[in-house]
Amino acid sequence: MSQASIFEQANESVSFLRDSLPEALQKPLVAIVCGSGLSGLANTVQAEPRAEYDYSAIPHFPRPTVAGHAGKLVFGLLGQKIPAVLMVGRAHYYEGHSMDQVTFPIRVFKQLGVDTVILTNAAGGLNSKYNVGDIIVLNDHIFLAGLAGVHPLRGPNVEEFGVRFPPLSDAYDLDLRRNVHQAWKEVIPSQSTRKLHEGVYAFVSGPTYETRAESRMLQMMGADVVGMSTVPEIVVARHCGLRVLAFSLVTNNAVLTPVPRGDEELFQGKTADELNAILEEGKAGHEEVLEAGRTAALDMQKLVVHTLEAVFKV
Ligand code: HPA
Repeated sequence: MSQASIFEQANESVSFLRDSLPEALQKPLVAIVCGSGLSGLANTVQAEPRAEYDYSAIPHFPRPTVAGHAGKLVFGLLGQKIPAVLMVGRAHYYEGHSMDQVTFPIRVFKQLGVDTVILTNAAGGLNSKYNVGDIIVLNDHIFLAGLAGVHPLRGPNVEEFGVRFPPLSDAYDLDLRRNVHQAWKEVIPSQSTRKLHEGVYAFVSGPTYETRAESRMLQMMGADVVGMSTVPEIVVARHCGLRVLAFSLVTNNAVLTPVPRGDEELFQGKTADELNAILEEGKAGHEEVLEAGRTAALDMQKLVVHTLEAVFKV
């Protein structure tokens, strides 16, 4: 996809959608990107009016290929009144999509007239205070790939969307975050073991989970969670002036202890099976990520809907 034509391509996608969208859904105010295991958010929109599109039907839309990441765009009314568009499943960089493709839906949202975008993801916890199942509202990020030149805004600037050098020092909208904390108090029972934190997200390209040394490096850099999505989308959303709110669901804890050494006395005389059992502890796996998503998804849904109702005063 050449940078020069992204604007036209986004407009083509919008024309396709507008041709069949019911009147009440022509101009959604909010776009929500549902991460791994968080597709239940799409069930929170009203049954009528509603419109759904497979990504494969929408011109230029990227198609996700990973199990657990369906690919459909759902339009409907959220919390009764807020016209919203939800992405159920997203395309990731590790699947082989370019940064332009991964971020293309954000540009479609902008051209649809969206004002606010909410991104959700499954992430590994690096902060020792976080537990599996906790929800993190992001307040900053570390984009190592972007710093090193793998960046969605690299190339000729698309002036129709935004400026050449967009600042990102205030990328995560403070007013929205304030509303999230308030909504949490209102909808999540105080005896819930699940906690809401604010934190910094580190983007890694994946598809491998981090080594122990990499996890410690990211933690030392100031990251609280690590994942394989969201940041490219946020960069492009901020470039075109969208308000951004982002959540991580902690689905596993990164393994931060150094790898066991082969010369440790303790391991001498152990069988291969016993050594394997030691190494299995804490290892991240895709199934575990999906399972934590299933049990925490309902709280995340309540939080998002209640926050939006407060922000849009319905
Ligand atoms: N690392 C990277 N991405 C992830 C993780 C992780 O530990 N968990 C869920 N997505």
